[in-house]
Amino acid sequence: MSRLACIDGAILKPEDAKVSVYDRGFLYGDSVFETIRTYGGRAFALDEHMRRLERSALRVAIPMPLDRHSLAVEVERAIHVAGNAESYARVMLSRGSGPLGLDASLATRPLRVVLIEPLKLLPASMYRDGVSVITQRTERAGDAAHGAKVGNYLASVLALRDAKAQGAHEVLIVDVAGRVVEGTTSNVFIVRGATLVTPPEEAGILPGITRAHLLSIAADAGLSVELSPITPADVLAADEVFLTSSLREVLPVVKVDGQPIGAGAPGPRTRALHLAFRRHVGLGSAPPPWEG
Ligand SMILES: Cc1ncc(COP(=O)(O)O)c(C=O)c1O
Repeated sequence: MSRLACIDGAILKPEDAKVSVYDRGFLYGDSVFETIRTYGGRAFALDEHMRRLERSALRVAIPMPLDRHSLAVEVERAIHVAGNAESYARVMLSRGSGPLGLDASLATRPLRVVLIEPLKLLPASMYRDGVSVITQRTERAGDAAHGAKVGNYLASVLALRDAKAQGAHEVLIVDVAGRVVEGTTSNVFIVRGATLVTPPEEAGILPGITRAHLLSIAADAGLSVELSPITPADVLAADEVFLTSSLREVLPVVKVDGQPIGAGAPGPRTRALHLAFRRHVGLGSAPPPWEG
């Protein structure tokens, strides 16, 4: 099992991986990133992640230091060198270093960093029993640039602190219009009968890659899809609620603000979708995470 960092293409031990204190990612959160995991040792949906990184970079006007195909090769190489059975990869692009000052033109050379870690999964009990979440009116990480995965998650860090203090796993972020948009690091879905409902991209969500894959296979689990705004009341009235992200896959939510959802246990639609997703990523014959 190994951890490593790759800075501007150079592979380094974690203890040797250093960036400047003048890096704007550090100074201002002036950066974009992706979180990727492997299945069978191969980065899942790598091209989609690289496309989203490219879109994020374009959205915040950070020039891509490498084209997305070359960056994908760099990520694959770093995963290969780390040699873990399964890895987590964080790919970051900052505007680079320069004199102090917000003016973006003070930095001219973007910095790219790839961090590889052995993949750590959530405990089986979270999938078996489901998790609690809270709702909170707060900003989203992407509010400064909708749809971009930007480096500054401060509002989410603070919201998550509140969630942890209440024994909850995640925060369902409520926007100014009073709608539930997404989690701090996840997308949110509710199940109503045989319909899967999730906020549309226009709600300003991060278009999750797990979300997109799940929407594409919902029919295999016998569900129709509705992309529409949801309110906290819709969440509380749902038959089932779950979160998606690259690292969580499909995580059942059984309590929101202390109130049970449906029967207060992971529901059959969530289970069916999760199994369909596992088949989709080639893990159809592996034991599901709730049996782990
Ligand atoms: C704000 C936000 N929404 C949604 C997601 C889920 O996206 P994905 O499924 O691509 O991991 C993330 C992932 O970290 C996120 O940070």
